[in-house]
Amino acid sequence: MSAHQPADVTVRRARFGDLRAVAHLQREAFPKELAYHLPALTFLKVVPGVVFIVAVRDGAIVGNVIGDYQGDKSRVINLAVDPAHQQRGVGTALLRAIDAALPHADLVLLVQVENSRAERLYLREGFAPDGIAANYYGRDRDGQWMRKRR
Ligand SMILES: CC(C)(COP(=O)(O)OP(=O)(O)OC[C@H]1O[C@@H](n2cnc3c(N)ncnc32)[C@H](O)[C@@H]1OP(=O)(O)O)[C@@H](O)C(=O)NCCC(=O)NCCS
Repeated sequence: MSAHQPADVTVRRARFGDLRAVAHLQREAFPKELAYHLPALTFLKVVPGVVFIVAVRDGAIVGNVIGDYQGDKSRVINLAVDPAHQQRGVGTALLRAIDAALPHADLVLLVQVENSRAERLYLREGFAPDGIAANYYGRDRDGQWMRKRR
């Protein structure tokens, strides 16, 4: 799908049978309060218009990205890669896949200000800072809006 995509990784639409594995990688990748659990993932899987993509390596789910289109913008709702599979291009491949799957209007997302690893990825992929959401992640934990103009 892209020059960055590792040869042994497949990026495809999520199936219901993937969701337990996605819930597991969410718990591994995020702090407890930010992980999406099975009910939320199931909801996102069935909502019309939501694009839910997974990365698969050796038959195992190693990453996910979820997004939607809201008329004036497309959004990345959630991006996560299993820590055991990070730093090998999976996050880049997933971000490029959601960018391609949601081609209308600008692509926006919110990242925690301290999350420099994710922010670096977004900057490298053409996103620019687009405002602060004060205390979005809790007291004194701001979110950084980022936008990719398309
Ligand atoms: C942010 C996140 C999705 C990135 O996923 P990832 O799979 O590690 O991303 P990539 O591998 O594509 O890129 C990460 C780094 O690895 C580097 N990299 C990619 N392939 C590589 C390879 N084969 N060898 C060495 N380095 C490589 C990239 O250049 C990049 O370097 P940089 O940080 O200096 O820019 C992941 O860290 C994650 O899930 N974090 C926890 C959840 C989270 O914060 N989600 C985002 C919320 S907004």
